[in-house]
Amino acid sequence: MAQKYGLDIAKLPVHVGMIMDGNGRWAKKRNLPRIAGHREGAKTVRMAVKTSGELGIKVLTLYAFSTENWKRPKEEVNFLMNLLVEYLVKEIDELQQENVRIRSIGNVSDLPKKALETLKNAEKKTANNKGLQLNLALSYGGRDEIVRSFRKIAYKVKDGLISPEDIDHDLINEYLDTKNQPDPDLIIRTSGEMRLSNFLLWQGAYSELWFTDTLWPDFSKEEYLQALENFTKRQRRFGKA
Ligand code: IPE
Ligand code: IPE
Ligand code: MG
Repeated sequence: MAQKYGLDIAKLPVHVGMIMDGNGRWAKKRNLPRIAGHREGAKTVRMAVKTSGELGIKVLTLYAFSTENWKRPKEEVNFLMNLLVEYLVKEIDELQQENVRIRSIGNVSDLPKKALETLKNAEKKTANNKGLQLNLALSYGGRDEIVRSFRKIAYKVKDGLISPEDIDHDLINEYLDTKNQPDPDLIIRTSGEMRLSNFLLWQGAYSELWFTDTLWPDFSKEEYLQALENFTKRQRRFGKA
């Protein structure tokens, strides 16, 4: 059986989701402004992408900015948008080398022009890469995604292209931002909060959850491997006996 870092590769999740939480508290503990925590958190993003790629994980979805996060102070929102641009510009060459394919999920048309442009560029540049698929959840909310998909379906019904009887799980999947992607097998949330905060609500129906008190900037490769090793030992039943 193929192993890496002592993990049974065949048992690893295909799709990992991460709710990257605790940047603000990391900064507060150090008497730093919240944005310092976001900057530090970007380093953990690098680790998560690299480690997932090394292990042959197919999809990594990072919850970077929620539909609710728009309610934060303007300065913090601006900082996060600029950080996204900075991350994509700085990392694009390395992501290319690592064969990472970037995609976004969420209502990205709400992003500032510069952020959207940089994101679309990164998606285009990496579109043919065959390694890790990196989904960046930006202006993402599970409920918003479901609303948008229902609206698209409703228009098709109205135009007579779909009949109501055609609407089933598979059809709904096709209209979600995660179209053609497997559901997340494992969702990790840092910072001690035990909630989904609107992350992958439809897709996460049977995800395994892993929570840690560690704040996102402190989340290490060792701990990620620990979460994965814990996952490999779980028994998933999907409702069966
Ligand atoms: C996660 O850290 C980053 C985003 C939500 C963008 P937070 O900024 O939520 O940090 P805490 O939860 O206040 O510590
Ligand atoms: C969830 O974190 C969103 C992201 C990690 C991007 P929040 O910090 O926004 O979630 P709540 O407000 O604690 O539920
Ligand atoms: Mg938070």
